[in-house]
Amino acid sequence: MRHAVAPGRVNLIGDHTDYQDGWCLPMAIDRAVDVAFTPRTDGRVRARSDDLEGTVDLAADGSAAITAVRPEWGRAVAAALTLLAEAGRAPLGADLHVRSTVPVGSGLSSSAAFGVAVTMALADVGALTVTGADLARLAQTVEHRASGVPCGIMDQLASVAGRADHALLLDCRSLAVTPVAIPPEAVFVVVHSGEPRRLVDSVYAARRRACEEAAAALGVATLRDAPFSAVADLPFARHVVSENLRTLAFADALRDGDLDSCGALMLESHGSLRDDFGVSTTRLDELVVALMGAGAFGARLTGAGFGGCAVALFDPVRAPIAAERFGGFVVRAAAGARIVTEEAT
Ligand code: GLA
Repeated sequence: MRHAVAPGRVNLIGDHTDYQDGWCLPMAIDRAVDVAFTPRTDGRVRARSDDLEGTVDLAADGSAAITAVRPEWGRAVAAALTLLAEAGRAPLGADLHVRSTVPVGSGLSSSAAFGVAVTMALADVGALTVTGADLARLAQTVEHRASGVPCGIMDQLASVAGRADHALLLDCRSLAVTPVAIPPEAVFVVVHSGEPRRLVDSVYAARRRACEEAAAALGVATLRDAPFSAVADLPFARHVVSENLRTLAFADALRDGDLDSCGALMLESHGSLRDDFGVSTTRLDELVVALMGAGAFGARLTGAGFGGCAVALFDPVRAPIAAERFGGFVVRAAAGARIVTEEAT
């Protein structure tokens, strides 16, 4: 039996920058989607999940209409099949069994991890080896087709490129990944705000469009190319440009083990997402304050916003105490997506 295993991710800093060719600094986490797969030869792909209702049963040739697929979680399977069919590598069929330890609806990229794992599994059955940035791009297209959300590349690239004990500085223009070692004194805690992410899809698409319009008005390809002076009076664009600067500064500070500076940059990032980009919520703002009160170096919302999780940087003593107190958990940086072969017993 083979398994495609793809981790979720937490973004430490650099949100709403990826779709403007910017920088972000996520890490793959020690929670993953595991798709066990075996080939079939009857032209069908069947998928079941330990966590989600229903059985997915699709033609393996990628001919299923993606948005009509039920249960809805099967749409990523259908989208991966259409992509493989376009590449001339549709599998003859497969059985998929999905298990996940990535919490759903938290902003930890459970859906990107699922997209990466399913794409890897079906590509493997179709005898196609796809890795690195190519795999991330394929899985990003799976997400676009399956959910209609015009997400950037961060979540999929983080899941693919994860490395134990390292955060990942992502250049979302070149797709270069620079691992940044996380010093042992730095421990990240994730806490859910208690609010499911609401309106996330429609507001996300609207923000993305607003950034594209701002870039066009400034005469640059993307906001990555805009100098800060050009966006000083444009709150959305100002967020993106300043967040890129904070992300690069955070990577340097983390490398230097300067956790005070890392924390200050996380707080500034949260303030910018709240005040300039308008994607925080009262509960997330309160949670960030409470985490600081528990002795965090810094804290911020993570991911798209509109609910979901906050991430906080603690020292190793305070981290487990805060995790317990806020009902959250410590996250460790983990290896990226991979195919694992389980010995038959
Ligand atoms: C979601 C998207 C990512 C990214 C973040 C915000 O997680 O899937 O591509 O845009 O929001 O940083």
